[in-house]
Amino acid sequence: MTFDCVIHGGQIATTEGVSTGDIGIKDGKIAALADKIEGGEHRIDAGGRIVMPGGIETHAHIAQESSSGVMTADDYLSGSISAAFGGNSSFIPFAAQQRGENVDDVLATYDARGSRSVIDYSYHLIISDPREEVLTDQLPRAFARGITSFKVFMTYDLMNIGDGGMLDILTVARKHGAITMVHAENNDMVKWMNRQLADRGLTAPRYHAISRPELAEQEAINRAVQLAKLADAALFVVHVSTEGGAEIIRREQFNGAKLFAETCPQYLSLTRNDLDRPGMEGAKYICSPPLRDTQTQEALWHHIRMGTFVGVHSDHAPYRADATGKFLNGSDVPYPKIANGMPGIGLRLPWLFSEGVVGGRITLEQFVALSSTNTAKVFGCTTKGRIAPGMDADIAIWDPEARYTVTLEDQHDNMDYTPLDGRELRGRPETVLTRGEVIVDKGELKATEGQGRFFGRAPVDLRARPGAPVKEFDPAQNFGTDLRG
Ligand code: URP
Ligand code: ZN
Ligand code: ZN
Ligand code: ZN
Repeated sequence: MTFDCVIHGGQIATTEGVSTGDIGIKDGKIAALADKIEGGEHRIDAGGRIVMPGGIETHAHIAQESSSGVMTADDYLSGSISAAFGGNSSFIPFAAQQRGENVDDVLATYDARGSRSVIDYSYHLIISDPREEVLTDQLPRAFARGITSFKVFMTYDLMNIGDGGMLDILTVARKHGAITMVHAENNDMVKWMNRQLADRGLTAPRYHAISRPELAEQEAINRAVQLAKLADAALFVVHVSTEGGAEIIRREQFNGAKLFAETCPQYLSLTRNDLDRPGMEGAKYICSPPLRDTQTQEALWHHIRMGTFVGVHSDHAPYRADATGKFLNGSDVPYPKIANGMPGIGLRLPWLFSEGVVGGRITLEQFVALSSTNTAKVFGCTTKGRIAPGMDADIAIWDPEARYTVTLEDQHDNMDYTPLDGRELRGRPETVLTRGEVIVDKGELKATEGQGRFFGRAPVDLRARPGAPVKEFDPAQNFGTDLRG
């Protein structure tokens, strides 16, 4: 066979181990793996480099209006470029239904937005209005085109669908084999805290963290899990920020709940002290759930190692620190009027590699699992997330020795700040391929607008969940995790 491309001499990293070898690519697919492959129209010398599956980012808000109508600074072009520079070959942002909207129209809007992407993309469908025709007609139609994950909110007045709404969606998801993602924070606890703080005139950015206590997350996670158990449905808890929340998830996973979870780099790298920066600087660090403390960081790392979390994803929510984003309602407004979220799609993997693998907190195999392989299983990306013959040639080639300082410019996004500005990192993706095409080559963009393709996904694979009582799907094997913690 003549290969279109051969990646030669790299350390190929999978969830099972690391070995030196060559990869032959043909027609966008991985066609051969061997100690040595001759020829190839194009050869990439990967000596001294790590070759792994391209990242799959599954928590990103791209070209998405917040519930209060603020548009993200990144669209599918800039968002996908930033993702690609950060070692990702594909992503699954959200397509968001606002109240009153028809899901078919929502997806048509996102199809137009997505068509600019340089990496392959799919959507998770956010549902804020689970009325009858949405449940009976529109969700099944979305599912039929391979949108096999829905997302719901237990907080934010304009998004929160209540426990009954959640049960309705979980039931439809269960019927079709879809998984429901949930943002779990108790809305009434947060609103009550907001009133207590407002009555005392405490409205600076730092009070945002105080308004969303750990208890609000823990109560909502527990409730979401019980609702999912009642409906016998699969649940994915997004952006877990507390030790208590992680412990509930861990316990329920081993009680048989069909339960997955993720955490995000910001909860491992920043603390609520970052909200105390002078003036309105703190607004840049407002996200929900809020940043916590260093003790929580250690606990979250522990749960990453144990496999409680199947992924570490960015929750890229790019609102600029100007009048288009954070300060749309004014430059000196109380925290409830400031858009929630921070950017990070370009740094998720470089940061996790540096702090996790180089920092000795996780193995390279765990890094591969957390960045793509687990995610591909959970969200039904059947042709992505593994280096194996027949899979899409979605590959990232990393220089594990690179040393550099984080700058805004290096993010290649449309933001005016990066929360990790000035951090010293080690190891970075150098060359990234999507379906065999080089899209980033040694720090240079090679992609053209719109070369990414939409991909439909398979139903959730429940055998792959942590705690699943199926021998051939031992989580220690499938998630590359160390069960001894
Ligand atoms: O603060 C965050 N995470 N903003 C993005 C919207 C959401 O909560 O998912
Ligand atoms: Zn090549
Ligand atoms: Zn959220
Ligand atoms: Zn989010």
